[in-house]
Amino acid sequence: MNNLIFPDAVCYQTNIKGKKTNLYVLENNNGMKAYFTNFGGRLVALYLPNRDGNLVNVTLGLQSVAAYQKPTDVYYGAIVGRFANRIAKGTFGIDGKTYQLAINNAPNALHGGKEGFHQVVWEVINYDAQSLALFYLSKDGEEGFPGNLAVNVVYSLTDDNELTISYEAKTDRKTILNLTNHAYFNLNGEGSGTILNHQLQLFADEFTPIDKTSIPFGNLQGLTNTPFDFRAMTAIGARIDEPHEQLLFGNGYDHNYVLGAKKEKGMNKVAKVKGDISGIEMDVYTTEPGVQLYTGNYLAGVHTLNGGEKDYRRTGFCLETQHFPDSPNQPHFPTTILQPEAIFKSHTIYQFSA
Ligand code: BGC
Repeated sequence: MNNLIFPDAVCYQTNIKGKKTNLYVLENNNGMKAYFTNFGGRLVALYLPNRDGNLVNVTLGLQSVAAYQKPTDVYYGAIVGRFANRIAKGTFGIDGKTYQLAINNAPNALHGGKEGFHQVVWEVINYDAQSLALFYLSKDGEEGFPGNLAVNVVYSLTDDNELTISYEAKTDRKTILNLTNHAYFNLNGEGSGTILNHQLQLFADEFTPIDKTSIPFGNLQGLTNTPFDFRAMTAIGARIDEPHEQLLFGNGYDHNYVLGAKKEKGMNKVAKVKGDISGIEMDVYTTEPGVQLYTGNYLAGVHTLNGGEKDYRRTGFCLETQHFPDSPNQPHFPTTILQPEAIFKSHTIYQFSA
């Protein structure tokens, strides 16, 4: 583990299709530091002091914009859109018209397409010591989605050790939208081994079971007596390899949980996670109705992380706050339709303590 290698700004400074990328650093009064690049609106690294006062990087990130541009990109720290997670067969309808997206995760569409929000350069609207405001205009027809969609994302680092993410979007034509951030966390430190011994509590009573292509059936399923029940603090890996059909379909946890079981800070409390070695804790809150628990099942050691280690299987986990996967084809799920007269707003907090 080599946590004190900080990202090198030069490696994030490039020009993509006439737009400049760079590295941006936020710092709070407790010595927490968050690094971002406007390429994909990505969180690159997140340092906080552990109980001994030493800085630990608790998120997985890559060493340059070039590394994030590879086709193997696994959405490290990125803003995901227009539609986070999967849409069955990449198709959906609005007012009788059928739309077809690229099939980039056969047989489905995943995370907004080949050049989704994770692969575009975001404009920096404002940058100060504790916040970074990004903007992107997704043109009508981009990646097959209707409507010109203007998206604002503001990252802040508060003195309460919160990394907050605020999303706002507006369209000029009826469209669909599902935004998230795809940060992978390892609370023991990036590159310090698997997350299987992290303790997780998830404030959900139900999840949305999936078929073998990871598309929800459309029902909500209770958690009692299943390996999906994290209502009491449990090690992430305690049951992950049980021969439960849903775990086989997801190659581990890769499932959407239904939030609303617990409210705090006027939002849905999502989860509490604790790094078993570092003792670092993370509490997650959101205004979104769901969260994707993804345990890095498809990581395969093909990327070099900021600290120099490889990103082996299950060395990071994600809690992607979101609307439910495939909502445009699931009439009983909360709607992901955005109307031209509406403003989409959503807010997520990742709060840390040592
Ligand atoms: C999905 C996984 C996918 C991963 C890509 C997650 O949000 O649910 O199935 O492999 O993103 O990194």
